[in-house]
Amino acid sequence: AEVPVLTLDGPSGAGKGTVARLVSERLHWHLLDSGAIYRVLALSAERGGIAIDDVAALRGIACTMVVDFRLDERGKPQVLLDGDDVTNAIRSEACGKRASHVAVLSAVRGALLQCQRAFRRPPGLVADGRDMGTVVFPDALVKIYLTASVEERARRRYNQLIGQGIGDNLPAILKDIEARDVRDCTRAVSPLIPAPDAVVVDTTRKSVEAVVDMVLSQIRRRS
Ligand code: C5P
Repeated sequence: AEVPVLTLDGPSGAGKGTVARLVSERLHWHLLDSGAIYRVLALSAERGGIAIDDVAALRGIACTMVVDFRLDERGKPQVLLDGDDVTNAIRSEACGKRASHVAVLSAVRGALLQCQRAFRRPPGLVADGRDMGTVVFPDALVKIYLTASVEERARRRYNQLIGQGIGDNLPAILKDIEARDVRDCTRAVSPLIPAPDAVVVDTTRKSVEAVVDMVLSQIRRRS
């Protein structure tokens, strides 16, 4: 049988990253943070002096860059670009914004498909992003679409950045998230929408534990 996949899609700040990590730990499944791949591509382009709309050059990087995820000594997830630790560099709002610009290009998205599907390995995969259930893993075992009010999502992103020691201001984050939502939802290729067979969950007033339990019960019901 195919390796089971759980997809967690939704807008930024909906809680996908945290829920994906906790669920993958509980199930001992692999974890794919697909947003990190778009962020790494954006960072690599910036470092290489490549314009945000240079499709051919971006596609070239997308095909050749080596992105790795691993845990550091304290069990914290790390992201590597060609062996270089870029964990903190890719978390800035500027990098997220740049990522959402390169993500509208269909040639770029196509070039990243194989790289993302390669994470599907036994015993299972938890994949978080925007199009995991609709495009990358359409045959996923369970598809979840997480949302929350834009104010709540901005607050969460703000707290996350503060926690990482990256200062930022809340009104600016709110504006950025709204602009990013518009770009992600209205783009022609792989727009952000729930898959027809996704379970939609509003996390605005739910605790992380409640969402994790709900996701685990969906998996239990389906396997
Ligand atoms: O989730 P995160 O904020 O890290 O993603 C950064 C950007 O990458 C998103 O705003 C989106 O434009 C893009 N992205 C995407 N498809 C994915 C994951 C992320 O288009 N599967």
